[in-house]
Amino acid sequence: MKKKIVLAYSGGLDTSVLLKWIQQKYNSDVITVTLDVGQKEDLKAIEEKAVSLGALKHYSIDAREEFVEDYVFPAIKANALYEGKYPVSTALSRPLIASKLVEVALKEGAQAVAHGCTGKGNDQVRIEVTVKALAPNLKVIAPVREWGMTRDAEIEFAKANGIPIPVDVTKPYSVDQNLWGRSIECGVLEYPEEEPPEDVYEWTVSPEKAPDTPEYLRIKFECGVPIAVNGEEMNPVSLIETVNETGCRHGVGRIDHVEDRLVGIKSREVYECPAATIIIEAHKDLEKLVLTRHELLFKQHIDAEWAFLTYAGLWSDPLKEALDAFIDKTQERVFGEVKVKLYKGGLRVVGRSSPVSLYDLNLATYDIKTTFDQSLSAGFIELWGLPTKAANELKRRLGKKEGGEQTQKR
Ligand code: ARG
Repeated sequence: MKKKIVLAYSGGLDTSVLLKWIQQKYNSDVITVTLDVGQKEDLKAIEEKAVSLGALKHYSIDAREEFVEDYVFPAIKANALYEGKYPVSTALSRPLIASKLVEVALKEGAQAVAHGCTGKGNDQVRIEVTVKALAPNLKVIAPVREWGMTRDAEIEFAKANGIPIPVDVTKPYSVDQNLWGRSIECGVLEYPEEEPPEDVYEWTVSPEKAPDTPEYLRIKFECGVPIAVNGEEMNPVSLIETVNETGCRHGVGRIDHVEDRLVGIKSREVYECPAATIIIEAHKDLEKLVLTRHELLFKQHIDAEWAFLTYAGLWSDPLKEALDAFIDKTQERVFGEVKVKLYKGGLRVVGRSSPVSLYDLNLATYDIKTTFDQSLSAGFIELWGLPTKAANELKRRLGKKEGGEQTQKR
């Protein structure tokens, strides 16, 4: 009997070439798997293409709800931004894709799973670490890492094997998208000093062309996750889509930065992440209203570590589970609504409220009618400043001495 290999199949040129190449090179049957994570592609057409290219069997998996609830929501609670900028959108989808590959492989009794990631990126790490963690006996094949095919060679191979060449084959960009964002790499983007040309953006309108009137979004959170927009409760997938659409109309969520890849390479990355940008900003703002200063300060470190682990492919590491436990504990009090104003590519939080707010107008007000006892501040300042005062006294004493010695030397 022929070996079976389960391939993560996007329907694009690369994975279509892979599909044929694996059948020939490994003389094995290929089972293709495509996940819907909100990339807005025609899953039916992808399935037909896979089968026409000789896939033994094809799995189309609608994973949108699972993606939002089990991956995007934890990222919101963690305010996940890798290196302060990137909402880890592509990174979040990889462990989910890997876990589905494993599921199918075990069900089908396959010997290996295969993916189309290159040997220079992060995605290979994310997929393979997850597969190894879930099914250590499953082999992973990464043909792109070894075959050294140029784009032209791929097109030649495609022609020779009856693989349809996509109309946008001359577009130089490598794109990955899901509900949490769109990642764009390659082409002119490899020159970090050059402004990205307008044609890299497909989701968002250019800020210059955005409407002249601002739009408001009121986002309601429960236990740290968004549940309603402008007063309307929505299921998780529709909510993210709604915020994405509104953000896109106003050119919000374009990100352009230099990022440190896991394999040590610095790369220029461009993203369109409207919902992620808006929701994380709103969530962070709400946390400031309901968490204590001690919680907030400490959580920043946890959040940064969470984003790093996710970026670094360590989704299945126990450390992430431990961080999740801490984060979930803090989110028990993250209830409330945040008002965000979108305008010409920018966003600003302009109001927030919560039934469990720690803000106390009576304490905060500069009005004379307050219960805050200002006389207590004098003693507080005395003790708070004690170490700083002492250290400065010492510095002055030593400074004088040194000065004195110098005078003697002269
Ligand atoms: N730099 C991002 C990451 O590692 C984006 C990767 C995008 N992948 C792609 N095929 N364009 O998560």
